[in-house]
Amino acid sequence: MEAARSLSPQANAGEMRYWRLDKRPKIEIEDDCLSLQTVPIPALEEGQVLMRVVYLSLDATNRLWMEEIENMYMPAVPLGTPMLGFVLAEVAESRNPGFRPGQIAMGLGHWASHVVTDGEGWMALDRPDGIPLSLAFGVLAIAGPTAWFGMMDVGRPKPGDTVVVSAAAGAAGSCAAQIARLKGCRVIGIAGGADKCGWLKDEAKLDAVVDYKTENVAEALHRLAPEGIDILYENVGGDIMDASLANMKQGGTVVVCGLISTYNGGVGAGGTGPKLFHNVIMKRLRIQGFVVLDYMARYGEAWAELIPWLQKGELKFRLDIVDGLEKSVDALRSMYHSGNSGKLMVQIGAES
Ligand SMILES: NC(=O)c1ccc[n+]([C@@H]2O[C@H](COP(=O)([O-])OP(=O)(O)OC[C@H]3O[C@@H](n4cnc5c(N)ncnc54)[C@H](OP(=O)(O)O)[C@@H]3O)[C@@H](O)[C@H]2O)c1
Repeated sequence: MEAARSLSPQANAGEMRYWRLDKRPKIEIEDDCLSLQTVPIPALEEGQVLMRVVYLSLDATNRLWMEEIENMYMPAVPLGTPMLGFVLAEVAESRNPGFRPGQIAMGLGHWASHVVTDGEGWMALDRPDGIPLSLAFGVLAIAGPTAWFGMMDVGRPKPGDTVVVSAAAGAAGSCAAQIARLKGCRVIGIAGGADKCGWLKDEAKLDAVVDYKTENVAEALHRLAPEGIDILYENVGGDIMDASLANMKQGGTVVVCGLISTYNGGVGAGGTGPKLFHNVIMKRLRIQGFVVLDYMARYGEAWAELIPWLQKGELKFRLDIVDGLEKSVDALRSMYHSGNSGKLMVQIGAES
């Protein structure tokens, strides 16, 4: 993290800014779906904490939280309220004995300069030795645990397995692919464009890469995994998932982490899922989805491997940090069009 990032001006003393959800998006997040608000910081009640937000994590699922979707894993953000997001923050003021000023904590907060919370669901983050705070947050909050539990708990790789990961250059995907490599698997990443594919080969040290923007994915996987795929870690859905399903090994495992290609107006409206789903029967596949929030009580298990890998440089991770709360909406929109390179987050306040 560079010491002198040029942050956008903060609200005046005593004020906070936040993005309010005003309208539910239909396809793309339209300009009038969210508006930037400035309000006085409320006085704290007994048990409350005022968090000064440093980083906001932008996650593919944020688009889904804006919509009312049947069977969603959490309720939609109510209209007229602050947009939700995972944040890393510094305790600015506390009337809660569990938090002291200056402490660093992360939790489900708002797209905001400040968050007032009762601390429920927040956890203190002790900065791991040798890891910048931005990197620690980028990996340890969502992407790393998602990848670790998805791969280890759902995928259950064995050394020598052939593993395919889609959106492999992204936050969750790059961790999932490298976890499989570190567990002794042969890993093939699918990503869009020469830069991302080059990074996956040269830095993340994957065995092979498929650029879905220039290659026929099904043909490439057939060539690269002639005996079939043992584990598919799926982040994209649609045609890319179909290409992998057609190349699974008998008895293989499909970990459904995400279906980002369907999120802009799709997942709630029956958007493009895999069409070649019959492969699940023909190839006797085990297919399982998961939500990382279910694993929060077990985060320590994932961190116990992720932190040493980061410290030893065995797990590479790219941060894509946008400066300033006001850029949050545009930044999130870019994610559904391959605009981010690595973990997308917004720096809202300075690190102290
Ligand atoms: N189950 C869980 O608990 C959980 C938790 C976190 C994340 N996830 C899922 O993990 C996936 C990745 O999320 P992330 O937050 O880590 O984002 P990310 O991978 O850092 O960024 C998203 C990437 O997805 C790819 N993409 C976007 N639209 C696409 C499309 N139409 N076709 C093909 N590729 C597309 C792009 O990479 P390219 O440039 O390579 O196209 C983009 O950079 C998402 O599906 C998300 O929902 C699930």
